[in-house]
Amino acid sequence: MHGFARPSAALFGAAAVTLLCTCGEERPPLASAGRDERSAELADADAARGRRLVSAHGCIACHTMPGVRGPASNVGPPLDGLARRAYLGGTLPNSPANLVRWLLDPPAVNPRTAMPNTGLAPAEAADIAAFLLARP
Ligand code: HEC
Repeated sequence: MHGFARPSAALFGAAAVTLLCTCGEERPPLASAGRDERSAELADADAARGRRLVSAHGCIACHTMPGVRGPASNVGPPLDGLARRAYLGGTLPNSPANLVRWLLDPPAVNPRTAMPNTGLAPAEAADIAAFLLARP
């Protein structure tokens, strides 16, 4: 009896290791995970609507955005080239999902940030994210 138990346990161990290795290999690289996230998060987003929301919600009171008329404020960083930014608010890795998260509630991401919660609805945050990420 013992003679059988041992090899089967070893076999199970080997199978488990093989399984783990297979999972690791099939995991998509980080870059493509980001793309998947983008299509999921911003599938229904409307960049043109996002542009209007940026004006309507007072973002330009604190941020400059080339192409959007405003008071040339420098309270927050300029919002051009956002797609090339590595981090949002200096802490959150930049991705479409994280941009939406940041826009919805910056103090929830970083309690010490100077950017307030601007009261966006999730769909509005997605529209603005689509607009910002499409800008050069
Ligand atoms: C009262 C001023 C203020 C308002 C209003 C404001 N922001 Fe900000 N925003 C900031 C500040 C300050 C930062 C920098 C935060 C930090 O680094 O912690 C920031 C950061 C950001 C960032 C991250 C940029 C980066 O490179 O880290 C984005 C994106 C952003 N704001 C978008 C918006 C949008 C869109 C709106 C309008 C819905 C808006 N902000 C309204 C002050 C403001």
